[in-house]
Amino acid sequence: ALERTLSIIKPDAVAKNAIGAIVGRFEAAGLKVVAAKLKQLSRKEAEGFYAVHKERPFFGALVEFMISGPVFIQALEGEGAIQKNRDLMGATDPKKADKGTIRADFAESIDANAVHGSDSAENAAIEIAYFFATTEVVSA
Ligand code: CMP
Repeated sequence: ALERTLSIIKPDAVAKNAIGAIVGRFEAAGLKVVAAKLKQLSRKEAEGFYAVHKERPFFGALVEFMISGPVFIQALEGEGAIQKNRDLMGATDPKKADKGTIRADFAESIDANAVHGSDSAENAAIEIAYFFATTEVVSA
């Protein structure tokens, strides 16, 4: 099915000047950028975005990391976009990520892991709406 998913290029990958290289992988895989912005997240925005992880031991470090520098947020559209993006990213922990995936190539650790991607259609809709107004998502 034609789907949309939320992608965040995290502060580590933005700091490495890897925005273009990562977006290039999405586009080469047939995903279309239908919304995008560079943004410095506030603590409140980062806490709200990751609210499902609030009780996890890594929550504090995750929020600190996500506000440590600008992030590049996109909505991606395409056939099976949610799974396609997850396949391109590789495992959450870059040490476990398959060769040739974004996390294997750009990430240093499970915390600084280069990218976020929605894990389900339900969360994709919630996450896209968290960062983009409907008028900011533009598809041909
Ligand atoms: P992300 O897909 O952005 O969703 C939550 C993030 O928490 C995850 O990527 C990791 O960067 C970070 N994280 C840190 N430790 C863990 C862990 N043990 N399990 C899952 N996510 C973790």
